[in-house]
Amino acid sequence: MRIVLGVGGGIAAYKAAELTRLLQQSGHQVQVVMTDAAREFIQPLTFAALTGRKVITSLFSHESSDATLSSAVEHIAVAQEHDLLVVAPATADLLAKLAIGRADDFLSTLYLAFTGTVVLAPAMNTAMWTHPATQANLETLSRRGCEIVDPDDGWLACGTVGAGRLADPARIAERINSLGKTRRDFEGETFLVTAGPTQEALDPVRYISNRSSGKMGYTIAETAAKRGAKVVLVSGPVNIPAPRNVELIPVKTAHEMRQAVMEQLTDATIIVKCAAVADYYVANVSPQKLKKTAARLSLELDPTPDILAEVGQKKADRILVGFAAETQNLLEESRRKLLSKNCDMLVGNLVNQEGAGFESDQNDVEIVTRSGRTVHAGPASKYEIAERILDEIAMLRLSIRGMDRIA
Ligand code: PMT
Repeated sequence: MRIVLGVGGGIAAYKAAELTRLLQQSGHQVQVVMTDAAREFIQPLTFAALTGRKVITSLFSHESSDATLSSAVEHIAVAQEHDLLVVAPATADLLAKLAIGRADDFLSTLYLAFTGTVVLAPAMNTAMWTHPATQANLETLSRRGCEIVDPDDGWLACGTVGAGRLADPARIAERINSLGKTRRDFEGETFLVTAGPTQEALDPVRYISNRSSGKMGYTIAETAAKRGAKVVLVSGPVNIPAPRNVELIPVKTAHEMRQAVMEQLTDATIIVKCAAVADYYVANVSPQKLKKTAARLSLELDPTPDILAEVGQKKADRILVGFAAETQNLLEESRRKLLSKNCDMLVGNLVNQEGAGFESDQNDVEIVTRSGRTVHAGPASKYEIAERILDEIAMLRLSIRGMDRIA
């Protein structure tokens, strides 16, 4: 793609150089535009050296003898010649400017003239990020179709820890790469996705849970929404933001997850059960905090409802995709769960493998279907794995609908 990279004036501006390099390595052509404030943090020369192109810094700075004319039209020409505009870091001020449509420098003027895909990667102090004004501006920009790469949590330049750190350049580049491939092939479908762990209480302060971060399920939900589906995401407690354009139903326990899934089942056409649901819950939750004693403590656990198996019984012509978290015999266990839970497709992953399964940004999966198809995907980012799973669902949908027609 031909990409314009707009660099805003924040301490994270230096990371835009790494983003430039990653985009070029992915085969994109990059034209950098810097705001005045960005030039306080990093020199245009850095980007000019990386891209081999003049960096655009102002509406009115041109070497041309007919400066007035070329200034007046350059933002239009740049807008027409590029496929994607990414702003990184997008400061609170820049977001506000873009949201109200103010055009007082090259970047904000370009944004108004731009008709291609816009990606915004915000970076700022946590209080500025969570301020209702910033969130309202983001909401406006997101509704207008801008893709937002949410910031990470971590150490900030102001010496505090929290949300607001520019997303890792690799994550921004990956998101841009996945956008290049976006199709709206799931328009008209309603996805019901489950994600994250469940928490089963022992007493008012303790619970049994697992290491699921929600990343895999959230990425599937986000990808399905991008590919045109209406998406309902039933999620256990996680620490990642809900994807945009997705209806989030937060739950805690396996029983709550079951209830939410059953309530949403009627409208769903494709169900992806990625959540790591507890297999057992504590039979007698203590109403008071359990006291520590020298004696051994035994817990009595009852099995939780198997939501996937229940959906498998009620699914009718819906497409049902289950997951299997295994530590050995991945293919055998995946095929066994596919059949025993009446799924159409099952995605198995080894959760004891480095760079796969729980918490990781990557996964490595075996996808098995009832027709006997087996596909290996990974190791790759959870974004790529999500795209791959959706590609397989699209193929499955085609074969199921084809068979329906014959029947
Ligand atoms: O969240 P991340 O950190 O990104 O990690 C991703 C993941 C490892 C959680 C994900 O890739 C994954 O493997 N999810 C399934 C986890 C799991 O519970 O696997 P299982 O083999 O125990 O269960 C099989 C299937 O039955 C799953 O679809 C599960 O959602 C479902 N199930 C299980 C128990 C239960 N009581 N009800 C269910 O519906």
